[in-house]
Amino acid sequence: MADVGVSDIAIHIPIYYLSHHDLAAARNIPVEKYTVGLGNKTMAIIPNWEDTVTMAANAAWQLLNKTGTDPDEIQQMVVSTESGVDYSKPVASYVQGLLKIGTQCRVYEIKHACYGGTAGLINSIDRLSQNSSSTKKALVIMTDIARYGFESLGEPTQGAGAIALLVERGPKFFTVDTSRNGVFSKNVFDFWRPSGHSVPIVDGKYSIECYLTALEGAAQHLRSNLGLKKENLFDILDYIIYHMPYSKMAEKAHKCLVEAEYKDLDSSSRERIFEESFKNMVAPGLRGVREVGNIYTGSVYMGLMSLLEEERERVEGKKIGVFSYGSGCGAEFFICDVKPNIKNIIKRLDFIKQLDRRKKISIDHYTHIYSKQDKDVIFFSPEVQNFKDNFTRFVFKGIKDHKRQYI
Ligand code: HMG
Repeated sequence: MADVGVSDIAIHIPIYYLSHHDLAAARNIPVEKYTVGLGNKTMAIIPNWEDTVTMAANAAWQLLNKTGTDPDEIQQMVVSTESGVDYSKPVASYVQGLLKIGTQCRVYEIKHACYGGTAGLINSIDRLSQNSSSTKKALVIMTDIARYGFESLGEPTQGAGAIALLVERGPKFFTVDTSRNGVFSKNVFDFWRPSGHSVPIVDGKYSIECYLTALEGAAQHLRSNLGLKKENLFDILDYIIYHMPYSKMAEKAHKCLVEAEYKDLDSSSRERIFEESFKNMVAPGLRGVREVGNIYTGSVYMGLMSLLEEERERVEGKKIGVFSYGSGCGAEFFICDVKPNIKNIIKRLDFIKQLDRRKKISIDHYTHIYSKQDKDVIFFSPEVQNFKDNFTRFVFKGIKDHKRQYI
């Protein structure tokens, strides 16, 4: 197995958030449906001076900065999104311009609902693993705005954010042996956004079914690729991160995996294993989804950051199973082999710092932002001109001659 993987990770979370208490009150829904039934507390709301381009560039800028990477060293940059700003011009090109990535770099955008970022990561690792490849460093970025219909059932599962990963040989954070992954893909209509629609069409309950079917299929494939006979996945994994549209989904997924891996046990033994393993293996990675919501392509990687913030050096040398799911559908279950010394990565994660810097907005403010986002208007309000934030370097200025402008 080639020693290729991820050297560092960065996140960008918008400055605003809405509390699920306020949303529940406005929608006349018992708050427990959101906080217990879905398991979330707050969700990120993207201000009108940000979009998927600025979030991607802001996350990647932090990553390059903290790792001391010169933009010219990047030879492949993949940006994954399902909330792009143009049918043709890729978000990746805007980001290349903002970050001043050189011209001798393969730059492209990738889409496969929430699975797209993982497809970009696995592809980049494979590319760097080829001995003949001249590509030494790749930047993989996931950026999305999870936006559902106003007052729809999906509304409490919104969110926004971007993740950036630095992929290289001899990585400092973790390696992935891509020949031993489990995959599952199938053509289904669980969640889709036809061209011209500003929000997705969702068959909510069916989407959960599709997710769990994909999890079972990918887990079975992973087991077989690992050559497991007597052992099961719980014998080899220390932590598991599931794709998380909301935190309760991780519980449903984990229950499903326990049932698949411990088929021969009675239900009370399985329940005991579920409770114990959920607490130790899954719960430490939930803070991000509870406070930010769904960030689509970046979801599992925000789970990874939450796990690192919570477990810190305890994850050194451990195996983290990651189940990435994208509607439509495509899924991959892979294993991150964490390196023995990741103190520097943990020290400068800055995820909790970003959560703590956020400003709570009222339901009226949320409604105002939501209604503006349906229209292609030019924004460069006094609000953004006076805005200061250590984690935001790039902002969206507006559209002129059909061209998006950034500063
Ligand atoms: P819903 O109809 O609003 O919710 O849809 P519900 O009635 O099923 O209630 C949700 C949970 O709250 C249930 O728990 C209720 O019992 C509980 P569960 O049975 O699931 O364990 N509940 C309460 N609990 C405490 N006190 C109360 C109370 N009332 C109810 N008073 C749904 C929920 C998630 C379907 C909806 O929000 C939705 O459509 N969301 C968007 C789609 C989604 O997230 N699907 C998940 C899988 S697909 C996926 O992850 C891909 C995705 O990320 C997109 C991509 O790939 O690009 C979405």
